[in-house]
Amino acid sequence: MPPNSVPVVTIDGPAGAGKGTVSRLVAQALGWAYLDSGALYRAVGIAAAWEGIGLDEPEQLAACASRTDIKFVTQDTEEPKIIVNGKEATADIRSELAGSMASALAAQPAVREALVLLQRSFRRPPGLVADGRDMGTVIFPDAPFKFFLTASPMERAQRRYKQLMEKGVSVKLDDLLHEIVARDERDANRAVAPLKPADDAIIIDSTSMPIALVIDQILTVLPSHYRS
Ligand code: DC
Repeated sequence: MPPNSVPVVTIDGPAGAGKGTVSRLVAQALGWAYLDSGALYRAVGIAAAWEGIGLDEPEQLAACASRTDIKFVTQDTEEPKIIVNGKEATADIRSELAGSMASALAAQPAVREALVLLQRSFRRPPGLVADGRDMGTVIFPDAPFKFFLTASPMERAQRRYKQLMEKGVSVKLDDLLHEIVARDERDANRAVAPLKPADDAIIIDSTSMPIALVIDQILTVLPSHYRS
């Protein structure tokens, strides 16, 4: 295959590291498309739950991943809306339950395989910012700019806690911390496309860094002519 000249910025990292916000704002600053690959796994999880498919049914899950219709409806300033098989599922896919389901089904090689081409189809001019766990290692290994964004588990749990409180959802910080540690463990130790930095990724630890600074760090690495 000839090399793809459309530039890609990959931003991988564990749950709650701020990849979503950072990636969306970097994409906005560049005027590029944005791929939230975690939302695809979450959407498949929701679709599988709607269809009554269990996490112990790998073939059915892979078939579900292939046939599920997932649309992102971009709005100017806010998070995009997610439509799964014609139904608005934005709030549903953001639940902790959807996150855990996504993490569990994402460990199935056939499910990951079913989503490869869909993810690569987001690579369109003038460029793409792709957020996930394996964007720099598996989906876009030829991406010219790779980042791995992390933060301590406690910092990530606290950020998530604050977000949920602001939405009026009551949770225990301890439960969130356990959930984050369990998800890291599952995502990092699976056999296929485990969560790990690409060899050529720049690692950013955002534990005590404001989002604006993280975005700045990423943008300064990119050639200035990319900025819109
Ligand atoms: O980024 P997120 O929290 O929305 O992702 C939800 C789960 O989906 C995550 O725990 C693991 C899985 N995932 C993955 O395996 N590969 C990706 N590229 C993105 C997400």
